[in-house]
Amino acid sequence: MVKTVVLVSGGGTNLQAIIDADRRGEIKNCALTAVISSNPSAYALERAKNSGIPAYIINTADHSDRTDYANALFNKLQDLQTELIVCAGFLRIIDPLIIQAYKDRIINIHPALIPAFSGSGYYGLRVHEAALSHGVKITGATVHFVTEVTDDGPIILQKAVPVLESDTAESLQRRVMEEAEWEILPKAISLFCEGRLKIDGRKVRVME
Ligand code: GRF
Repeated sequence: MVKTVVLVSGGGTNLQAIIDADRRGEIKNCALTAVISSNPSAYALERAKNSGIPAYIINTADHSDRTDYANALFNKLQDLQTELIVCAGFLRIIDPLIIQAYKDRIINIHPALIPAFSGSGYYGLRVHEAALSHGVKITGATVHFVTEVTDDGPIILQKAVPVLESDTAESLQRRVMEEAEWEILPKAISLFCEGRLKIDGRKVRVME
């Protein structure tokens, strides 16, 4: 079983989708060992507790700088014998220290079809505001490996979601989560834990 740690900062609906898919037996060969939050009041912590998953807080406010935070997170990941890191609404940049130590073992969900509306500054509602102001007819979500360039790592899965005339950033955010994120993130975790993802340069091959 691949020891998997989920990093969160907010509501944790993606975490809930992972927990629910796991309980339904849809995530193969995965042990959800812990949840770590950068925010002590994140509702995601309640979701972890309600599901019996150990939850830890590494609070942004308790660490003076980026390196100090990275060391604290790295030490906790090591203590947990982490084999896969899942960023599910984690509102911090993953430090190169962690990216190098867990090369090709960190995945992230982004609420757009990368390379659209991605990279530095594109997070939360801003992504959907940008999609609406650009007038795109289709957006969606992407699960990708994390590299040192924000939202640029090899793409594992994507799913498209149509933009409606009546959409606001909030309604679009909700539909992208419901129709894409909650489906492709658990699926990507399962593919990783089953050993079915092979990185070939920028591409990820999904093995049968
Ligand atoms: C999601 O839209 C995710 O793609 C983005 O942040 C949001 C997190 O939502 N990175 P939640 O905490 O999983 O509810």
